[in-house]
Amino acid sequence: MSQATLRLRPDADGLSRATKLLSNGALVAFPTETVYGLGADARQGEAVAAIYEAKGRPSFNPLIVHLADVAAARTLVEWSPQADILARAFWPGPLTLVLPLRADHGLSSLVTAGLPTVGLRVPAHPAAHALLARFGGPVAAPSANPSGRISPTTADHVLAGLDGRIAAVLDDGPCTVGLESTIIGFDGPHAVLLREGGLPPEPIEAALGAPLLQPADTTITAPGQMSSHYAPRGAVRLDATVARAGELMLGFGAVKGDLSLSESGDLVEAAANLFGHLHRLDALGGPIAVAPVPMTGLGRAINDRLRRAAAPRD
Ligand code: TXA
Ligand code: MG
Repeated sequence: MSQATLRLRPDADGLSRATKLLSNGALVAFPTETVYGLGADARQGEAVAAIYEAKGRPSFNPLIVHLADVAAARTLVEWSPQADILARAFWPGPLTLVLPLRADHGLSSLVTAGLPTVGLRVPAHPAAHALLARFGGPVAAPSANPSGRISPTTADHVLAGLDGRIAAVLDDGPCTVGLESTIIGFDGPHAVLLREGGLPPEPIEAALGAPLLQPADTTITAPGQMSSHYAPRGAVRLDATVARAGELMLGFGAVKGDLSLSESGDLVEAAANLFGHLHRLDALGGPIAVAPVPMTGLGRAINDRLRRAAAPRD
């Protein structure tokens, strides 16, 4: 189904049009501090199904539900002392909490892929917050890219992948974090790191006063963490210090390239540049060589995304 995709500004008129579209079951992409999300009313099953259709997602992975504030989140799930510590410390922000659903949650079962838990996030981005507050309901949103492609950090990236397939994109410039949210689940009182992301583990462990468990140490998993993901069209070679013939080079620190994630070796700058630079090199075509990125702080999440971009494809 083809439609004219509107590019809306995050002003009163744009927000009011975006809110009406969501209420009518249409898809609206919106900026968050991590990446652009492809939003639908999480209570309307057909609207949520349209997300999978627009993205061409091969399977029903559970989606993250976005809310304006902690109070709205608490109406959907069984809250816990650990969730409260993390929400107070890091919401609004690039953190998703997976918690048990309350009986009266009202969400479409397609959002949770039938699981008894749901991933919740209160984003900090002002345009995301304004949209969620005005809409006043839960918004399901995966990253706003076709399935298996690079996550979008600008409205242009969203339109490059989804123009004609969604009702609108709320354009508020580039995302500042540039990596998806960190996902934390719980095994009883113990917090589990389900996905590395825009919030590094160290401050989370400091807030909890306890180390994060790995999924392998528990009975819980993050569905949909497929190994090939975030994929440019051309092959990706990691830990490269020089480009081979025909390769485009993505540099970092002392390793120079056609583009650099961060010439000064700053991991925060590298995270913000990661998907945008992969998009730009991908648009030039050809295989991509990537400089080594250290496994400290945000470097762990950056390396996780790079490994997925480089994984063998089906
Ligand atoms: O930064 C982000 O998190 C972005 C923005 C738009 O908020 N969203 C995003 O959504 O990355 P998505 O659909 O690409 O990732 C959702 C992932 C699932 O693949 C799964 O790993 C995890 O969230 N997840 C969601 N619900 C879960 C649940 N009930 N149990 C375990 N994992 C869950
Ligand atoms: Mg995604």
